[in-house]
Amino acid sequence: MGSFAKTDAITQAFERVIKQACVPKDSEELFVGLDIGTAYMVLAVLDAKLQPIAGAYRFAQVVRDGIVVDYLGAIDIVKDLKQEIESAIGRELDHTAIAIPPGTSYSDTRFIGNVAESAGLHVVNVVNEPEAANTLLQLHNGVVVDIGGGTTGLAIIENGEVVYTADEPTGGTHCTLVVAGRHKISFEEAEELKKDPARQDEMGRLLKPVSQKIASIIKRHITGHTVSEIVLVGGASCLVGIEDVVSEELGIPTVKPAKPLFITPIGIAMNCRTADERTTHEGRA
Ligand SMILES: Nc1ncnc2c1ncn2[C@@H]1O[C@H](COP(=O)(O)OP(=O)(O)OP(=O)(O)O)[C@@H](O)[C@H]1O
Ligand SMILES: [Mg+2]
Repeated sequence: MGSFAKTDAITQAFERVIKQACVPKDSEELFVGLDIGTAYMVLAVLDAKLQPIAGAYRFAQVVRDGIVVDYLGAIDIVKDLKQEIESAIGRELDHTAIAIPPGTSYSDTRFIGNVAESAGLHVVNVVNEPEAANTLLQLHNGVVVDIGGGTTGLAIIENGEVVYTADEPTGGTHCTLVVAGRHKISFEEAEELKKDPARQDEMGRLLKPVSQKIASIIKRHITGHTVSEIVLVGGASCLVGIEDVVSEELGIPTVKPAKPLFITPIGIAMNCRTADERTTHEGRA
């Protein structure tokens, strides 16, 4: 099983630059990734060596099931995140990569792209979310599962190539609804309780059925493939013990990096190249 040392170093650096951004050199090329998620909107900025230099995020419910339900609200948040980072790094951001859940239609993809463009970020590349996550993870064989707020997306990787992708409802929002129902509290209170560091073991037990449901989604999609390893990313995979539940249910070693929340946004930023630049880069490699 691979080590997450490099991935963990980058996500830790990202958490640091969210608090205190680094100033890039004047002409340095910047790699920007915008993750318009169901739970979090994240803007990640990397330097030319693909190291994090700035980041900003908001908890926001502007997307549901991969569809932008509050278009103007989404644009305002992206503008805020962009401005926050621009004043921290002293440079204007003018381009970005974005990501979509696997299976998103052409028109929904354009809609998500329009949010970025309307906020002043020209979209240079559109990637699949679990594939973006794997740009950082660099898994060669196995399954990358991105358990976000609204959906669980997955990509099966064989010999470094993505051979299958899927996306299904069930994620952190589902967990929050279970917590709200169990404790008879509001969604907002349940969201906080779910993430309370002192209550993590209890949450792991309470939300085991949701973890089992996610395991069953993974099982259905990997049937027919030989899978040696499963890697969980996305905010909802922070849930204590979810990797053990998936491993028990499927009989496949399942692991997660130390900080699974920002893997996908960082991976999106790593894909911030135009098709021409990618061809040139691959030609050189
Ligand atoms: N420590 C934690 N324990 C449990 N859940 C957590 C924790 N931290 C974050 N989450 C959950 O992770 C979810 C958000 O994850 P993420 O940012 O990956 O989703 P998203 O990209 O916004 O959603 P999607 O990919 O479905 O559109 C939320 O439901 C949030 O409550
Ligand atoms: Mg996501």
